[in-house]
This record gives sequence, structure tokens and C-alpha cells, in this order.
Amino acid sequence: MTTETRNPQRQDETLNSIGIKKPRIDGILKLTGGADYAADRNLPNQTYGYPVTSTIASGELTGLDLEEALNMPGVLDIFHHDNFDRLSRSPNDFAAENKVGEPRLPFEDNTIYYQGQYIAFVVADTFEHARAASRKVRAHYRKNDEQLTDIATLDSGEGELPGEDVPGDASSIGDADTAYAGAAVKLDQRYSIAQENHSVMEMHASVAHWENDRLTIYESSQGVVFQRNALSNIFGMPLEKVTVISHFIGSGFGSKLFMWPHAVMTAVAARRLGRPVKTVLTRQQEYLNTGYRPKSLQRVRIGADQSGKLLSLHHDGCNETSPAGLHDDTVSASSMKMYHCENVSATNHLVTVNKCAPTSMRAPGEASGNFALETALDELAIQLEMDPLELRRRNFAETDLSVQLPWSSNHLKECWDNAASRFGWDKRNPTPGAMKDGDEIVGYGMATQSWEAMRQHCGARVGFRDDGTLLVACGTQDIGTGTYTIAAQTASERTGIPVEMIDVRLGDSSLPAGPLSGGSMATATVLPAVSAAVREAVEKLKELATAEGGPLENAESDSIEIKDGRLVSGDRSIEVAELLRQNRVGMIDGEAHTAPGDEKNQYSFRSWGAVFVEVRWDPGISRLRVARVVSTIDAGRIINPLTARNQIEGGIVMGLGMAMFEETEYDPHGYPYNNNLADYIVPVNADMPQVEVELLNHPDYLLNEFGARGLGEIGLTGVAAAVSNAVYNATGKRIRDMPVSIEKLL
Ligand code: MOS
Repeated sequence: MTTETRNPQRQDETLNSIGIKKPRIDGILKLTGGADYAADRNLPNQTYGYPVTSTIASGELTGLDLEEALNMPGVLDIFHHDNFDRLSRSPNDFAAENKVGEPRLPFEDNTIYYQGQYIAFVVADTFEHARAASRKVRAHYRKNDEQLTDIATLDSGEGELPGEDVPGDASSIGDADTAYAGAAVKLDQRYSIAQENHSVMEMHASVAHWENDRLTIYESSQGVVFQRNALSNIFGMPLEKVTVISHFIGSGFGSKLFMWPHAVMTAVAARRLGRPVKTVLTRQQEYLNTGYRPKSLQRVRIGADQSGKLLSLHHDGCNETSPAGLHDDTVSASSMKMYHCENVSATNHLVTVNKCAPTSMRAPGEASGNFALETALDELAIQLEMDPLELRRRNFAETDLSVQLPWSSNHLKECWDNAASRFGWDKRNPTPGAMKDGDEIVGYGMATQSWEAMRQHCGARVGFRDDGTLLVACGTQDIGTGTYTIAAQTASERTGIPVEMIDVRLGDSSLPAGPLSGGSMATATVLPAVSAAVREAVEKLKELATAEGGPLENAESDSIEIKDGRLVSGDRSIEVAELLRQNRVGMIDGEAHTAPGDEKNQYSFRSWGAVFVEVRWDPGISRLRVARVVSTIDAGRIINPLTARNQIEGGIVMGLGMAMFEETEYDPHGYPYNNNLADYIVPVNADMPQVEVELLNHPDYLLNEFGARGLGEIGLTGVAAAVSNAVYNATGKRIRDMPVSIEKLL
């Protein structure tokens, strides 16, 4: 095993397996029902857990009547504050890779912090028995008179945003106050984004079982290593005694990055009963206990000169958080970097509400912040009677002024040009309502897209087998984005073994530790580790081949290459599988651990894009629809154009959700009443516009040897602003509060 922290020198290499349109290698398993999702797991002697949730949002649980529930058919036990195991909290530290969604342990105290908080956990022989018994649990509460479930009620609508300032979030360059005071053109506006829930397809699920002192838990997780580490802390067990398995995930959108309390309840119950326990949250529970994108309020102030040059930018944000778990969405942070402006200030406030802990959701922070900034720029362009795209061009950031570093690679100008020309931006009439087509009024809008390009440390193992196949293993997971496929492409690229012969194993915390599937960082993180593991294994193969009597005896190690699954030196070569068979070795493996070096101190890494939107408003029937979305993305080298395009298209769908539909609504008791996929509206096929995505392909070799940045989240950023800007162009109504529901246009 080696540890590499540098990026191997760029070679002007021709790539064969990277950059090709490879359909997902796990696609057939998914289509044929062969993919094992967490809730599909059934273990011998299994039992079923069902949580009981609080029906008040704030107060104290003063008692539970359990007798009737305990006498229901099939009930095995009911866990609650008075009989639950004493555990330790996870340190809940992102850097130490043990962050959890809600740091509070289940039933830790009898205080009720939010509606839907777990107050008991029923275990029975069937799911139906557990659910039926849960309805017989009688809870007694002392209810607080005051509760808060909407920060908007605290906002005066002008001046400072409500909430507590987070000093660590404040960043600034230059002197934004003075520059603003002296600017000829000014804008001061407020924006908001409703609370959104992830609304995953596959419900959160845990299946836990113990063998002596070892815990194995099957979970729908975006981070098996984080969950393994957290459980190890909570149960006080060594890492190697906890295994988290998550082979397939039916979407997470951030809600499965960090473990939630249902997993801890399930593991405790399995240990106490000495039997496996399966818990699958219901759709309604998903909206109570698995995080959400917190509602945010934002204020943007811009000072500019008459030519449109940005002189000052203030971006203040505010998001809801929970007494059960702090979450800072840092919505204003990316505004420090988006444009050339020498005087910028960003702050964030938090307000504690009686809801469960918010968490990362689909381009967290930046999608929200970029909505406000990109809408404000549209408003500024109108004030200046300037084309909004031209305004952005005049403020292109040649460097990242916030950290005084050059970009590693930045092709935003090409994104603007490419998307504008494909969209036909030059045909836009800036006068609201001026473009008509039959009964419909047409509106055009655009925005810049951006997302930080991250890379983490990562381990991987590969094994050449004597049947010609290659094993690739990494303790990350594929959340449906194509990680299995691009890991295979990477191994194929570095060995010449066809993708079909590569057996990729992910979603198991006992494999060499890999990253979260989040933050758009998996590709840039995992690929270098797979590549390094191949180099390790190939070194061992070379030793075997050059040994006395070996097929490449006396060959210089440096002269040997691996091509098409063969070791080649001059005119001699040997198929790797044959070499293994000759030596009666079943498998030769290599393990490597890679990590970024100090490149972050020398360059700023971001992906960029531009999105153009056409909306159509039919005032006769009050119908708003998005007809067309054109986006061009600069995310470094594209490893697989099929899965990459899917990522951007998916991001655009999520952006349309933010722009037009998504909003979690609460009743006066703090209960989310649109807690199902009929009432919580996400875009469906009938809502989908024509979507045209183009991916530039400029490798960013400063981030990794393949030049790939991530592209999981960038597709979403900018979409809500582009829609609201297009809505203004169509209707003359400036909607600053997402979503743009039809009521706001009447
Ligand atoms: Mo994404 S919110 O990093 O799963």
C-alpha cells in the first residue's frame, strides 16, 4: 500500500476508456431487481421496528402508557427514555468523518424539541404488528406555549435579517460599506427560499444485526464510512467491529449523507432482542426526521457604476436551524467568489425553530445564495438598461479575489458564449411581455452556475485475478450517479482490461475508506485512488514477470507497460491472467491511499456554467411553464458523457423544483402537512421542458491526474434565478421568494 499526495505529472495521453459513453454497469441489476437496496435485506429471525413520534413541537414528554401497546399481537418490546441503552454521543465532527444528522441520541432526554421527534420505538414480529402497536402508545406532554416554525414571522422586511450572527461565517474583502455609500447605482433587495424536503424515492432504512460483539447494518447511506465511524463512537466499539453496507441507494440528495437516529434505535433493539431488526421509515416520517433544506432569507446590496462595474456587494443570509442539531447553510459564502468585485461582505445568521435538524440538500447553500445573487444582478441590469449577460461579462472574475489565488481552470466565458448562442439569447426583447406566441407570453432569463470543486483523501484496492477479471474496491458508494461505472472505466483505462471484465465493489465500510457521495467530490476523489491502486498491483506483477524464469526475465521494470491486460516489454509480452496461472497465484492485489497535496494553497478550484431558460405564461388560464433550458457546464474532463449529462439534467430538474414547486408547509402545531409525494410537489415528466446540456471538456490537471472536477450539484445552481429572471421578462413581475407559484403572478 502506498500513500500519494501529488498529482502524477500530466501526460498528453490518449484515453480509451475514459471519456466514452459507457452505460451504467449496474443498470441491468437495477432493471432486473437484482440490486439489493437496504430495505430489500431480509435476515433469518428478523423483527421489525416502528418509531413513535411526538405530536407536539415544543415541550416535555411527561409519561408514556405502554400497556395496551405491549399487549398487541406480535409485540416484542418497546424502547423509550426509561429503558434505552446508555450510549455516548458521536463527536459529530465532519473533519473526523463521524458527523451525524442529529447529534442528540434517541430518547436522550424527555424534552420535545420538534414535532415528530422519536419518543418510543416498537419492535414486533411483522411490520404491520409494529405499526398497529405504535398507534396504541399513549403519550402525555407538557406543551410549551411558544413554538417557532417559520423565520419569516421574525422578519421586518427591511434592514438587518433576523437571527443570531455566526461570526465564523463573516468574510469580507475591501470595504463594502464605504464603496456602497459612494456608488452611483444601488440595489438593496430581499429574497427567500422556502423549506424544501429531499423527498427521496427510497425511504431511509436500517437492517441491523449482531454476531456476538460485531454489528452489521444495512443502510441506505451516502456515507458508509461516516456512519461506521459514528456508530463505533456511539457504541464504544472498535471500527473493525462495525460494518455499514449500502450497495445501492434510491436517491439521497443529501438526506443520507449523515446518520439519523432511526439507525441507532434499530441497532440497540437488535442487540437487546438478540435478533435482526429492520426499520423502514414511512413516507410521512421522512418529512419529520431526515433533514431538509432550511428556509432561508437573504439580503443583497449592490453598488455599481453606470457602466455596470460592481463596486460593492453585501450578501447577508439567514437560515433556520434546530435545537436538535445545528445546521449552517452558509448561503452567502459563494458570493465572495462569483464576480470581480473588490469590496465584498458576506454574513450568515441562524434562527432556531422547532423542527428536526436541517441538513445538506442538493447544492446546499450555493443553490440558495446563487438564486439571490443572480436575481439581484438581473435587477441591476434592468436598472442600468443593460443586457444581463453583458453585465456579467463586464464583471468576470479573472482570479478568486476572496483568497487572492488564480483559478486552476475557468471557462465560464465559453459557457456564457456557448449557451447564449445555442439558446438564441440575441433574439431576446428586454421589454417585459413583449415576446408573444399565440396565447402565451414568452420570457427569457439567464444565470451563472458554479460549485466548488473538492477532493478528499481516498483508499482503494484492486486485484488482478487469474480468470482475467479485475476487482476494484473502495469504501465509497454509488448513489445512482455512476460511481460504479467510472471506477470501472478508470481501472480499464489503466490496465486495458475491458470494462465488462471489471468487478467493482462499493458500499461497504470494511473496504479501504472512501469519500461521502456528496459535495460533488466523489469523482475527483475516487479515480486517483483507483489509478494508484492499479500502479501498486502492477509493480507486483512486474516482479513476478521479471523473476528468474519469468516471461519477462531481465526486463527493466521501467520498460514494462500494461496494455490490453498484458504486460509488455519490447517484443515480449504476457497476459496478466496467464502470468498468474503460471505462478499458481489466484490474485495479485494492490492498495493505495491518495490525498490532495497543497494545490488548494496555490489555486482556487471551481466548476462553472451558464443556464438560459425560456418560460411561457398564459394569462388567460394562469398557466406558467418552463419551455426550454439550455446549459453549458465547465467541470473539467468529462469521464462519462452519459452519466455526466444525467447529473446536470437531474440538477436542472431539482432547480425547476426550487423555482416552481417545492415548499414544505407546516400547520399551526408544527406538523408538515404536505408530507407525501402527492402534496409535496416536485417536477414530473409533464413539467419537463426541452433540456439541452453541453459539457465542455477542459481537463483540470491541477485537481487530479484525469483533470475531472465534480458535477453532481452545479446543474442546480442558477436555475431558480434564471427562471425568476425569465418570469420577470414575461410578466414584469419580480418574484423574489421561491417557489414562483402561480398565486404570486396573479
Ligand atoms: Mo449532496 S447535498 O452533497 O448529497
